[in-house]
Formats: sequence, C-alpha cells, structure tokens
Amino acid sequence: MQIFRDMAALDEGLAALRASGGRIAMVPTMGALHEGHMALVARALALADHVVVSIFVNPRQFGPNEDLAAYPRREAQDAALLREAGVAALWAPTVDIMYPQGFSTSIHVAGVSEGLDGAARPGHFDGVATVVAKLFGQVRPDIACFGEKDYQQLAVIRQLVADLNLRVRIAGVPTQRAPDGLALSSRNAYLVAAQRARATALPEMLVSAGEAIRAREDVPAILAWATRYLLDSGFESVDYVKLCDARTLVPLDRLDRPARLLAAARIGGTRLIDNIAVNP
Ligand code: PAJ
Repeated sequence: MQIFRDMAALDEGLAALRASGGRIAMVPTMGALHEGHMALVARALALADHVVVSIFVNPRQFGPNEDLAAYPRREAQDAALLREAGVAALWAPTVDIMYPQGFSTSIHVAGVSEGLDGAARPGHFDGVATVVAKLFGQVRPDIACFGEKDYQQLAVIRQLVADLNLRVRIAGVPTQRAPDGLALSSRNAYLVAAQRARATALPEMLVSAGEAIRAREDVPAILAWATRYLLDSGFESVDYVKLCDARTLVPLDRLDRPARLLAAARIGGTRLIDNIAVNP
C-alpha cells in the first residue's frame, strides 16, 4: 500500500493506478479505523479494482466546542489495517494541504442538511460537503462508499453529487454494530465502562420504537416515550429522536412512506448518533 501526503505524490500514484486499468473506489474517513470503516473498505474492494482510503480529521466539520483536539489519531495502526485488507493507497493530507492560506470555498447543501444534526451542529454539514467535494476532486473516484451510520451525511452527499453532476457513484453501507447492538464509532472510545454499558439503550430504543411505529402506534407519543427512555437509561440529554422521510429527511408524524428513525443523545459528555430503517 502506498501512502501519499501531498498532491504531487497523489497525482503520480493515481496515474499509475489508472494506467494499470480498472475502476477506483474511495472510502473517505477521519481515521481511528474500526470494523465499521473496514466494512466500507470491503464493499469498496468488491465494487472496484483499486481502493483509495483517505484519512483526514477535517477541522471545518467540528464546531468550536467539539472534540477536534481530542479526536483519536492513530495513523500507523490504521495503515496496517488497510494494508492487510488490500487497499492500494492511503491519502493522508495535512490541514495545510487541504486548506492552504486563501482557501475560500464552502459548500452548503440546503434542505437535507438543515434539520437533525445540521440543526444541532451548525456548519457541520457545510464542512463535510466541502471536504468530500474536495476529496472527490483530488482522487476522482468512480465509486465512493459511505456508512448508513451517518445517515444524514449519506443523504447530504447524495444530494451534493446529484446537484453538481459529480461523476461518482455513491454506495451506502449498512451500520456495523457491536454484539450488544451499539453502532461502532470512533467516539465510543470516549465512554468509560459504565457509560458504554448504558449506551445500548440507544439501539434498544430504536428497535422498540421502530416496531411500535410499524404497529401503527401514534408517532408523536412514541417519540416522546423514546426521549424519556434514553433519559431514564442514563443519557443526560437528547438532541433529537425523529421519524423522517428516508430520502429527503423531512420529519413525519405518520408512517406513510419508507422512513428512517434517527436519534442523537449525549452520555458522559459523548454525543452518540444512530438510526434504523422503518418501512410501512
Ligand atoms: P468517519 O466518522 O471516520 O466515518 C467514515 C465513514 O465510515 C463514514 O461514511 C461513516 O458513515 C462510516 N462509518 C462509521 N461508523 C460506521 C459503522 N458503525 N458502520 C458503517 N459505517 C460506519 O464520516 C466521516 O468520517 C467524515 O464526516 C468524512 C465523510 C470522512 C468527511 O470528513
């Protein structure tokens, strides 16, 4: 596996991959890789001939009081995992290379980025859309893989690609979970044992609430129950629990189309998100 740290090296490496023929699939990440990321890598390997993974902890998608400085960084370990998996190239640029002095562009995907996490984390999805558009410009992949774990992010990126006619196919990959149901996340590392044990209330709530919604119970009442359940289970605050249209993410109060139940809540200061499909 080759590791590229500047644009000249990346361009040269990509030219060599393209000369050998075949399609390139990309997996954008912020590193601290776990089995969730590796499921994206496995999908990318199945869909294309060469896989390029990026690791870049993107400062523009973190708010001023968020965990940018504390975000786990372990590139050597990540590189070993990727090499073992059969990844062709790791793109690991520095902040100066991604955002040199004079960088002036910001991409705002209206609508789909504005509720849920977009409301709770102002500017977050502008940072995501901007860095992903830039990564696509740098790597020019045929396919890019994103996790359903970050369902709103996946929806924002699909909209970005459609609106700007970016020539990349977006593949969504189901959420990978620990055996007890908690979605794998780099941020789970912030949880101490007691918080980690209680965090399973989040996926448990989604499954129960999803079943109740499918059983035609009153959606607003279920969402109110869901919030109480998280608070009673040891979460100290709940940003949202919402049923939304699976494509546009417009909030729903009845299950009259394919939907997604999404939640964000804080435990021990760590903000966790998760979601499941709820189909009529
Ligand atoms: P990061 O949080 O590192 O996630 C990278 C990719 O892994 C995302 O597409 C995310 O949805 C996926 N992923 C994370 N946990 C997962 C799980 N348990 N199951 C399946 N997929 C999972 O998301 C980002 O980085 C950034 O916002 C990025 C897109 C790289 C832009 O900076």
